[in-house]
Amino acid sequence: MSAARQEYQAVQGQDLLNESEDSKHLREPIGGFSSEDEDDASPTEALHKSQLDGTPRRSPPRKGEHTTIDVSKARRPWRRFCACLIPSKRVCILITIVLAAVIGAAIGGGAWVYKSAPKDGLSPPWYPTPVGGTVENWKRSYELARQMVGKMSLVEKVNITTGTGWSMNMCVGNTGTADSVGFPSLCLQDGPLGIRFTDHASSFPAGVTVGATWSHELMRAHGVAHGREARLKGIHVLLGPCMGPIGRNPAGGRNWEGFGSDPVLQAVGAYETIQGIQSENVMATAKHYVGNEQEHFRQSFEWGLPNAMSSNIDDRTLHELYAWPFAESVRAGVASVMCSYQMVNNSYACGNSKLMNGILKDELGFQGFVQSDWLAQRSGVGSALAGLDMSMPGDGLGWADGKSLWGKQLSLAVLNRSVPIERLDDMATRIVASWYQMGQDKWEKPAPEGKGGPNFSSFSTKEIDLLHPASNSDEKGVVNRFVDVQGGNPGDPPHKIVARKVAAEGTVLVKNDGMLPLSRNRSATIAIVGEDAGPGEGPNVCEDRACNQGTLGSGWGSGASEFPYLVDPASGFKAAVKNASIKVNTYLQNDLDQDIRAKLKLNDLCIVFANAIAGEGFRSWNGIRGDRNDLNLQKGGDDLIIATTESCGGPTIVVIHAVGPVIVEKWADLPGVKAILLANLPGQESGNALADVLFGNVDASGRLPYTLGKSLGDYGPGAQILYYPNGAVPQVDFNESLYIDYRHFDKNEIEPRYEFGFGLSYTTFELSDLVLKKLKPKSALPAPRLNEVPATASSGDVPDPSTAVLPAGFRRLKKYIYPWIESTKLVKKGRYPYPRGYDEPQTPSPAGGAEGGNPDLFEPVIEVAVRVNNTGKRSGKEVVQLYLSFPDNVVEPSTGEPIDFPPKVLRNFKKVELKRGGSQVVKLGLTRKDLSYWSTVQQNWVMPVEGEFKIRVGRSSRDLPLEVVF
Ligand code: BGC
Repeated sequence: MSAARQEYQAVQGQDLLNESEDSKHLREPIGGFSSEDEDDASPTEALHKSQLDGTPRRSPPRKGEHTTIDVSKARRPWRRFCACLIPSKRVCILITIVLAAVIGAAIGGGAWVYKSAPKDGLSPPWYPTPVGGTVENWKRSYELARQMVGKMSLVEKVNITTGTGWSMNMCVGNTGTADSVGFPSLCLQDGPLGIRFTDHASSFPAGVTVGATWSHELMRAHGVAHGREARLKGIHVLLGPCMGPIGRNPAGGRNWEGFGSDPVLQAVGAYETIQGIQSENVMATAKHYVGNEQEHFRQSFEWGLPNAMSSNIDDRTLHELYAWPFAESVRAGVASVMCSYQMVNNSYACGNSKLMNGILKDELGFQGFVQSDWLAQRSGVGSALAGLDMSMPGDGLGWADGKSLWGKQLSLAVLNRSVPIERLDDMATRIVASWYQMGQDKWEKPAPEGKGGPNFSSFSTKEIDLLHPASNSDEKGVVNRFVDVQGGNPGDPPHKIVARKVAAEGTVLVKNDGMLPLSRNRSATIAIVGEDAGPGEGPNVCEDRACNQGTLGSGWGSGASEFPYLVDPASGFKAAVKNASIKVNTYLQNDLDQDIRAKLKLNDLCIVFANAIAGEGFRSWNGIRGDRNDLNLQKGGDDLIIATTESCGGPTIVVIHAVGPVIVEKWADLPGVKAILLANLPGQESGNALADVLFGNVDASGRLPYTLGKSLGDYGPGAQILYYPNGAVPQVDFNESLYIDYRHFDKNEIEPRYEFGFGLSYTTFELSDLVLKKLKPKSALPAPRLNEVPATASSGDVPDPSTAVLPAGFRRLKKYIYPWIESTKLVKKGRYPYPRGYDEPQTPSPAGGAEGGNPDLFEPVIEVAVRVNNTGKRSGKEVVQLYLSFPDNVVEPSTGEPIDFPPKVLRNFKKVELKRGGSQVVKLGLTRKDLSYWSTVQQNWVMPVEGEFKIRVGRSSRDLPLEVVF
């Protein structure tokens, strides 16, 4: 038994569970997460400290103590004050009361705001972290990784788990190296729309647009192109795709980074994108795990509160909705998962052992490494024990503060046995194994040995500039090589082709009164109206794209990128009609004065553009702090559309660019509005892609990846953003459970304006001949969990502390994160209690056993076949969608408790292309997991064996003409 193991037994029964509990490690005598520079702490840092170590800012009176106040004396100064300034006694009393109330509120409010987080989280403990290397598919990578990690010194292992600090090297995240074994610094860079903070790279359509294609092929192609660009820029870890937020809140600031408001659509988008990125040898990151559904209060201090909010999610909802796309990401072999900023069930996601150790690493069999979102790590030892493997960007509780929660503190924690060495070895092995798994050991080494990347700087646009921008070093070198990666590898088609296809197929036609597609063969005068149709001041004029001006190609934040160019709709349209007898007039503004209105009368057709932006919470625009404040069109979009319709000499086509659903009620039914296109966020090829759809070069084949309701209220109470804190740790209870988006509309029989999955084509399709084939009999539970590859993390030997001491004469850069300790004297013996539940043995989940979960869950149980006929006059694409309704009256066998199900859930889909008159049989399988619910009692996926499943197939969530029971 290792020394560390004995330690656990010594502390059995200690009550240490969540973040606030984890933080107890921070104040252990030697557990070592206190900063040496304590005296330098800024007020904010001091606040962090008092928050973390639980020291009250003022001692409250002890029980039984009384405080006496001489009221008469206390009153006198006020009397004097009033007497000299205010003649009336009544006014004086009033002012006194008001002042007292203000001061009281300030003190009380302050105390309320800075009250520490709840003592115990509500998330059950799950320890220790399962060791990686348990699946066949990763066996070789783990063998190699174990050999390499076995040769690393303690500080090298620590170094590769910890970022070097924000802005210390070229990428948004950079790990330290393990030089003795040739393990490089890893470059981590955003994703997922394009490569952030660089030049000569593509700005692809955003996730929501990729989702709106409903095309497995395009999702994959987009992933391949994105991955290839990352590879050519020397990026090891791409920070995407994004599948959380899922879109619980339609106004959520970052929904546009993901693929849509349904777990299966998100999961397919994630799976295909990951496989695409990783086929280019780049590690993909499934983010943000999990429950980061709104931007307000997502992060400590960003919103003036010392703690982030808690997303309180029940076990079944977590499994069936929020974790589902992550499970598919793991099944796709994803190398990294990013834990999210906020708390889940009152324990920070990056310190939540149930989420990381229990669900991700045991149940879902995740073999890669968990990295923190940027500053989402809020504890040192606690997060390590809870399953975090990499601290990003490596700083402590604040940006570039040089006070990492890991780095040397992790070395110290391992040396004094606060963190078992097996855990550190597992972290390092997971990182190195992921590197081997992607074949990155074959990459060219970076300078000075080779020409490997990264070949760009996130923090400079100059060729030669600072190598460690946030430090005190003035060392300069070549930081940007301006490598053009938009063409992919030699001989490949340029990525703009993929970008254009995705943008075109991700455009959803929701209304078409015979207007579209347009013909190039008729003479006409067409007006293009609205600021959103034009270039504005250029696509990159606002930092992180955090403003709404010109045409909208992307949301804002870390998920946006520098546009290499942006083909605005007016330019794209003009290019498309170049040789035709079509005259184009442009009015690229939202205020239509009388002069313009008069001119619009002279046009045969008007195409009017409006939009709505949102983004990540660290920036704001026009009162929008990440999350939108409503679902309305911005910049007077509704009025613009109405005015155009009223003034135009002919019919009007409306084009919307938006981060998610917008309310279209004011104008959608106007007789002049003959067509509506929801073009989502199309990226750099916006105008070209739109012209492709308008002229029918491409069929209108996008489908809505969310429900478009008639009002924000229609989405239900759970869908509303919490804009004002409702406690010291804002609490958001996901009480609507499984009922988000169309599931809520269905359950409450609310008529949406356009339903989830809806979209028109230029041709017509008929679905027929639904046939169900049973492949396996119904049975309640999956096969027992398989015996995985046995895995051990390490020998458990803690090295001599002297091996971790900073080498003599080493010149440290200020605030740069290093793994070395200053002196062996810092390593003191002591009792370092482990979290509550650390010694409670965990039974491996019966739902686990392979990447993504028990392999039996992914066995097809039934297959349905349906014939699709193109009955229209041209070729086109149809998305065949399969929705499942669970049997009625399902009860949990052991408790008799009724199990509630949404009226229907999307479970599979396929996009097919058919020529005019063409016909094809489409087959859609359903797996055991598809047919199961998550039983909180059995802690497993359970298939109801009694009653009938209803399987409905059609073109949208509300157009399901075919039905079969099972
Ligand atoms: C975002 C992540 C992003 C990271 C690095 C964070 O603020 O939430 O999605 O990958 O920054 O830029």
